[in-house]
Amino acid sequence: MTGATGAVGRHVARMLPADAEVRLLVRDVAKARRAGLRGEPVPGDYQDRPGLDRALRGADAVLVVTANPLRPADDENILAAARAGGVRRAVKLSWLGVADPAEDGLIARWNRDAEARLRASGLDWTVLRMRTPMSNTLAWAPSIRAEGVVRALGGSARSACVDPRDVAAVAVRALTAPGHAGRTYALTGPAPISVREQVRELSGVLRRPIGFEELTADQALARWRERLPEPLAQALLEAAVRRAGGASARTEGDVEAVTGRAPEAFASWAADHEPDFR
Ligand SMILES: NC(=O)c1ccc[n+]([C@@H]2O[C@H](COP(=O)([O-])OP(=O)(O)OC[C@H]3O[C@@H](n4cnc5c(N)ncnc54)[C@H](OP(=O)(O)O)[C@@H]3O)[C@@H](O)[C@H]2O)c1
Repeated sequence: MTGATGAVGRHVARMLPADAEVRLLVRDVAKARRAGLRGEPVPGDYQDRPGLDRALRGADAVLVVTANPLRPADDENILAAARAGGVRRAVKLSWLGVADPAEDGLIARWNRDAEARLRASGLDWTVLRMRTPMSNTLAWAPSIRAEGVVRALGGSARSACVDPRDVAAVAVRALTAPGHAGRTYALTGPAPISVREQVRELSGVLRRPIGFEELTADQALARWRERLPEPLAQALLEAAVRRAGGASARTEGDVEAVTGRAPEAFASWAADHEPDFR
């Protein structure tokens, strides 16, 4: 697995069958141990071919999770090491926004190119296109804890955000069961929910009022610039503007089609993560 410490990957590592022998390519072995992940951590980076070779040699399948649109070679490095190591099956996490022809920002172009590389890789491929993971709301935890407030852009924007555990359940099937090669799955939650509605759900779970303060586009951009390079900050703003226009509201049925059960609602994810916001 790559991405084992990420939002979806951490659940994949836990949900894989007990008899699966799991190797985790991680940048920080101590972080992987602290997260209590099952599997053998192998130190490495997507730009470190020997590390990728150690992680992938002799594996049956690989989960591909890359996260930096400014490093488009990462996907190819993983796929090259997978081919060299005899891996037959690759399952890649992508973004459902790529299915929208009007979406042509940096993040969409990067995910589209990475999907194309995977399909041309010669491996049995499966693409998992997800809507925003519900776990993105964990970014609000510090201001909820300290001030009882959420500050964000686009409070009314509705997204069919998805429980990362549902995406992980689909990933586990694609990695371990037959019938998923050559498939592209669209993974969403059961219903669109706005940022303000998410804040209300969290308020109910925590049994205390949580305020919402709308950021201007300039304020949101300034916050992203503090931790991201300029092209990524701009790309996040573009995506937020499109979300505000309703681009992320549509639901899709592939979580249930693959796992046999309906995707979880935000209310259920929030209840399970109450300690993270308390
Ligand atoms: N986040 C969203 O809102 C969202 C929404 C829809 C779709 N997606 C898609 O989901 C995919 C994953 O994105 P994400 O941002 O959500 O990922 P993420 O959950 O933050 O996970 C990224 C993972 O990749 C690892 N990683 C990153 N760079 C690495 C490197 N150079 N070498 C080794 N490991 C590295 C990270 O490890 P460390 O622990 O070491 O950092 C982490 O485990 C992307 O295709 C994205 O477009 C994301």
